[in-house]
Amino acid sequence: MSKAEIGIIGGSGLYGMAGLTEVREERVETPFGDPSDPFVLGKLEGRNVAFLARHGKGHRILPSELNFKANIYAMKKLGVTSILSVSAVGSLKEEHKPTDFVIPDQFIDRTFDRTATFFGNGVVGHVGFGDPICPIVSDVFVKACEEVGVVGKKGGTYVCMEGPQFSTRAESNLYRSWGADIIGMTNLQEAKLAREAEISYATLAMVTDYDCWREGHDDVTIEQVIAVMHQNSGNGQKVVKAAVRLMPSDLSASPAQTAAKFAIMTDKAVIP
Ligand code: ADE
Repeated sequence: MSKAEIGIIGGSGLYGMAGLTEVREERVETPFGDPSDPFVLGKLEGRNVAFLARHGKGHRILPSELNFKANIYAMKKLGVTSILSVSAVGSLKEEHKPTDFVIPDQFIDRTFDRTATFFGNGVVGHVGFGDPICPIVSDVFVKACEEVGVVGKKGGTYVCMEGPQFSTRAESNLYRSWGADIIGMTNLQEAKLAREAEISYATLAMVTDYDCWREGHDDVTIEQVIAVMHQNSGNGQKVVKAAVRLMPSDLSASPAQTAAKFAIMTDKAVIP
């Protein structure tokens, strides 16, 4: 039986979910090792949810060290059909101001040290990823931002960088010249693996800084990121809570739910 319907991944600044009832912790075993933390299961707005702190309790896991496969596999094992992911990001455009929320619809991959597929080891598969974010879950985030009364911009391109250092000014300006909107270190691998696992996924990106491109403005520092996150984490929680309430229970219209149906190329007779 499914233990949770909606998964919540809390990033920097969102290490727990207020308002959960019937709360219990569960360690989930996976073939890929341990997820970032035990899951916090409970009810929110009458729905069964599973909360995971992406960087673990006390923020101890670097973006490059995250076991994305274990995190998404565990969500699937719990029965999750949609994931609400929350992340702190830098802004690459003047119009995206610290404390704004952006709900991106595209990614550019600037990572180089991560695996982000469940395929391999004798099974070859390729899922479509032209639209990497579920439009239904994304709309839910946009409506939730409206309800809460915070800026929640629909669409935008998220550059996913390796880190842990922030970008150089030349890189930041390059991403701006590409028309990218925001920059972070974690969301692309989650989106890829969620797609392969047929989980509908969207990101609520919380703008904390202007990275290092803005003349006459200090370069991003972690103090600044933390200060904005603290100021804004209450809003993040409110948006997630509203999103849980607004999430349709039938997600069959989400392309993610059938993404792997025709993905496998390997002859079934030879699958190990
Ligand atoms: N997370 C928050 N701000 C960031 C930035 N400027 N670059 C990458 N990741 C971030």
